[in-house]
Amino acid sequence: MEKLVIKGPTSLKGEVTISGAKNAAVAILPATLLIDGICTIENLPNISDIKISCEILEKLGAKITWNDKNSITIDTTNITTTQAPLDLTSKFRASYYIIGSMLGRKGEIEVGMPGGCKLGARPIDQHIKGFESLGAEVTVEKGTIHAKAKKLKGTSIYMDVVSVGATINVMLASVLAKGTTTIDNAAKEPHIVDVANFLNTMGADIRGAGTDVIKINGVEKLHGNATYSVVPDQIEAGTFMLAAVATKGDILIKNCITKHLESVTAKILEIGGNVEDNGDSIRVWCNKRPGKANIKTLPYPGFPTDLQPQMGVVLSIANGTSIINESIWESRFQYTDELNKMGAKITAQGKTAFFEGVKKLYGAPVYSTDLRAGAALVIAGTLAEGTTEVYNLEHIDRGYENIEGKFRALGAKIERVTE
Ligand code: EPZ
Repeated sequence: MEKLVIKGPTSLKGEVTISGAKNAAVAILPATLLIDGICTIENLPNISDIKISCEILEKLGAKITWNDKNSITIDTTNITTTQAPLDLTSKFRASYYIIGSMLGRKGEIEVGMPGGCKLGARPIDQHIKGFESLGAEVTVEKGTIHAKAKKLKGTSIYMDVVSVGATINVMLASVLAKGTTTIDNAAKEPHIVDVANFLNTMGADIRGAGTDVIKINGVEKLHGNATYSVVPDQIEAGTFMLAAVATKGDILIKNCITKHLESVTAKILEIGGNVEDNGDSIRVWCNKRPGKANIKTLPYPGFPTDLQPQMGVVLSIANGTSIINESIWESRFQYTDELNKMGAKITAQGKTAFFEGVKKLYGAPVYSTDLRAGAALVIAGTLAEGTTEVYNLEHIDRGYENIEGKFRALGAKIERVTE
């Protein structure tokens, strides 16, 4: 078993370069199934979710060559089966994108029910509603999803909830459908724009991604023969912004799109941190105890749920009592029990948590309960007095490339240890 051992407290100082966005990359890889040819994808984050995505694509018949640790060339000319490996697809959430892509490419697919972080109920009814509106038959039996369609036909789909996954999945399924598909009440996250940009580079005709109405004019074929670079990870960048504030540090965060970080920037300024926006890099520093704030997580451009635990660490040591309302996931406050072991005073009740700010956190053994909770515990271990051991690293490794290397380069005393 591996753990991260962190000796604190340290103020993080220096520069960090942000990797490609996990949540864009895990959709772009299955999107390559729509191409009858070859393409190269660069700026892929080197994380376990990407490795599993590649394994699934290979099992379906794709040929993948790693050019370096962040770039692959993928040949999807011969897709040989419509049965995705059930064990691998059940391992992570984004495996559901195989459904949209394979319905478009082959008109049929069988996958395991998607896994991923345990954040409460994670229904996929809006994905299924979208596929059925396009003319597919979808059945879910014994943990397996089977989707089939003779020919998908463009239509208008209104999403009952704003869903990142359902928006992307319906976009994937409609790229090669006959006619025009309209998605109303679409999600607007930067990764949705990135997946649309990737598909358009390969020959698709998608308009309006990044607004709440997306129109997809079906095309006959995607040509491939192009190189695409994944957008920088907004959530990784936000994680380091909040790490700078939490540790009273000073970090220059390079390779990010600052426009994607406006909700975080606004909150950092509100609690007394400093932000210098350079367009493709952002410097965040803080030399005093942060002030209290109230946060409500919302779909983009609101404050992202995927930065809620990291913000929770900042508020746990803020001057005063703060409230976070988590409006996306039912149980994303599991990390607060771990922070309380370190001396925080947090009371979580359902989707609301009250943070009575304390002056200091103290090192303790703690367990990542999900990906972003894990990142929050690494920040907490860096600012805490004494030694923190973070367990369950498989969650963190799903979404952060070399987290200990990046923290160490900023001065943290952090080591990965195998027990
Ligand atoms: C994506 O999950 C991200 N994952 C999540 O990031 C992120 O927290 C979430 O979007 C919200 O931003 C990936 O992109 C792989 P949703 P997704 O569909 O697509 C409800 C991380 O840490 N809903 O936007 O699964 C759902 O219950 C992960 O990187 C339905 O009711 O989220 C939730 O309340 C964790 N029916 C809300 O919509 C549906 O069919 C938003 O979910 C689909 C969703």
